Amino acid sequence: MGLTSPDDAAIWRLSDEQAIVVTTDFFTPVVDTAYEYGAIAAANSMSDVWAMGGKPFLALNIAALPDHLPSEISSEIMRGGAEKAKEAGVVIAGGHTVKDKEPKYGLVVIGFVHPQQIISKGGLKVGDVLVLTKPLGTGVTTTALKQEKVEEAHLKEAIEWMSRLNKKAGELAVEFNLKGGTDITGFGLIGHASEMSEASDVCVQIEFAKLPFLSGARAYAEKGIFPGGAFDNKKHFEGFVQFDEKLDEPARMLTFDPQTSGGLLLGVPKEKLSDFKKKAEETNQQVWVIGEAVAGKGIKLV
Ligand code: CO
Ligand code: CO
Repeated sequence: MGLTSPDDAAIWRLSDEQAIVVTTDFFTPVVDTAYEYGAIAAANSMSDVWAMGGKPFLALNIAALPDHLPSEISSEIMRGGAEKAKEAGVVIAGGHTVKDKEPKYGLVVIGFVHPQQIISKGGLKVGDVLVLTKPLGTGVTTTALKQEKVEEAHLKEAIEWMSRLNKKAGELAVEFNLKGGTDITGFGLIGHASEMSEASDVCVQIEFAKLPFLSGARAYAEKGIFPGGAFDNKKHFEGFVQFDEKLDEPARMLTFDPQTSGGLLLGVPKEKLSDFKKKAEETNQQVWVIGEAVAGKGIKLV
């Protein structure tokens, strides 16, 4: 796709009908159960292919595991990844493992996309309605887990969302011929929305009241339970954002919360919105309308 603007994956055209999509991602455990960690890491790694309108089909494991780690644990991590890949229709054909003090796991993923169906951060148009496909707040919730302050129900909810594939959301985006989209991961909502705003040369206007959050997110935010990445994101991206003055600090910080295996952020042309929402409902894909692309620059939180 070129190296001038950040994309979710590398895309290389093979012919007029086919381009190859390649991406990789891996990280340290976000939860303390091995199977779920593997499943979340795999769902997260494949997400970038759907975020660009592609269809993943082949993957390789990348793992770094401590010497002393019991083999039951490492095999549970791999099993979580393998079952998630299978659910996606992706084959894990091999991989590579090295020794490391802290576990790391993820996938290299290869997929295909039709060159006319590529979705990118630069594809938003003024008037597009912004749709998000997963709630926010996985960063604060997993940080509450690390600080041993998490409520079991909140953790369960976060694990369920992080494990969920962006497959249906990506397929829906292709079916409706959407052009602007990305997935929400480490840079948080504001970071990824800033990339879209810049690449598309539009202002991304978000209505805070419409943002979906995991049940525990606000309470953890009020207690200041944020991962370090939230503060990095704030430092890096706050210059691009104009917050409504009524929004308090926990609310503002939540928009910088780094996400693991977050949802897709898609631009849906207004005239397609009602059909899009209808189809999403029929296929059990949750979608939240959170704002609109308007003329201008940066991010506006209203
Ligand atoms: Co991405
Ligand atoms: Co990525």
